[in-house]
Amino acid sequence: MRPIIPDDIARIVIAPKSYTDDATIYRAFKWLREHMPLGMAQVPGYDPLWIVTRHADIREIERNAKLFHNADHNPVLNDQASDAFTREITGGTTRLLSSLTYMDPPEHATYRMLTANWFLPGKISKLEEQIRVLARQSVDNLLSFDGECDFVRDFALHYPLRVIMTLFGVPPEDEPKMLKLTQEFFGVHDPEEQRPEMAADPVVAAKQWAASIEDFYVYFDKLSARRREQPTDDLLSLIANSRINGAPIPRDEANGYYVAIATAGHDTTSSSTAGGLHGMMVYSENWAKVKADPGLIPGLVDEAIRWTSPVKHFMRNATADTQVRGMNIRAMERLMICYPSGNRDEAVFTDADRFDITRSPNPHIAFGFGPHMCLGQHLAKLEMRILFEELLPHLQSVEMAGDPRLVETNFVGGYKALPIRFKKA
Ligand code: HEM
Repeated sequence: MRPIIPDDIARIVIAPKSYTDDATIYRAFKWLREHMPLGMAQVPGYDPLWIVTRHADIREIERNAKLFHNADHNPVLNDQASDAFTREITGGTTRLLSSLTYMDPPEHATYRMLTANWFLPGKISKLEEQIRVLARQSVDNLLSFDGECDFVRDFALHYPLRVIMTLFGVPPEDEPKMLKLTQEFFGVHDPEEQRPEMAADPVVAAKQWAASIEDFYVYFDKLSARRREQPTDDLLSLIANSRINGAPIPRDEANGYYVAIATAGHDTTSSSTAGGLHGMMVYSENWAKVKADPGLIPGLVDEAIRWTSPVKHFMRNATADTQVRGMNIRAMERLMICYPSGNRDEAVFTDADRFDITRSPNPHIAFGFGPHMCLGQHLAKLEMRILFEELLPHLQSVEMAGDPRLVETNFVGGYKALPIRFKKA
């Protein structure tokens, strides 16, 4: 069986603009989960693809990394014209970035192992005091606003950036550059994040993606060379000096690692932090609960990440004919894994649209699943926990001072603005 998704629903799921409006995108996902959890989207200008919206199917596909590859095609959904542009500049492949998400077994495990140990919970927890100092600085900065600010622009964007760049070894004066490049990298479809010289180009998404990767490469080539000459104990030194099959890590793979961490390492966490506060303002009973019992903060963190789901999709490619949920998937067909939908699946989450910090268990898949599951998940949760521990005692109350705005993206994104009014404790 090969059910075809109604055109209007397929277009909503694929279009970056839909993700600026939670009501629109979550209505489409709900329809799909109920009526066509695994269906084909045939939208002109895009490859035909399966849209995967149920929690169980996402896990089944992601678990099986030999049958469902990341890298036979672009692991990120682009239109055909953009993929054609990418192939043109790479000499025939859509692997523009040699990061973990563009790798399959056995190459993937070889590269993931280089840093897997560094990201283990036991290792990460040793960074707690260092991260807490950064959290306190950020909270002090927020409190310097006179009861009103944009929680994203004035607060949530900066702390995760500081944390990852500090651990990574990027000097503070270069953080604005890293933030700008990340916003361009993930915001290729958003008119406010597009480079002016490219905005009118039909393949602006692919061109801007390539241009920001190039700028990252120029930056990281220099830093990487410095860390090879004089290694320190930062994460960048670890990668720069690592060896693959007895030889130094190749330049593209080292840069791919840096770019993945320098982008995924803060944008996602900023959005989830903003989502956590937004969730508590909309479902305000949570505010009273966590103020009364700070022991609920880890639950707040997980629920913030589930409810926000800052990574909207990754693509997989079937390597052989197979079946999922009774559907015949053919070799080389593409599948779009929709994490926000899996995280609102009624079969797994009671009252799934509701923000509830006491949800337990909370088996969300915002970090993905299987061998590619987020490398930075423990760091993300640690830094968010510390931030809320430092922030909440200083706030007596908080309320919305305007509508939130979300980034136009079907890939990675979330809050662009969250105006708030607050009273200090
Ligand atoms: C991969 C989500 C924070 C680094 C991923 C994936 C998701 C994700 C959905 C793909 C998983 C899959 O294909 O199954 C998130 C969320 C975060 C977050 C929701 C914050 C709330 C971070 C941080 C870092 C990071 C803080 C680094 C410091 C990575 C890397 C990968 C990855 C390197 C590629 C892993 C691989 O392909 O093996 N993340 N992430 N992420 N994430 Fe995160």
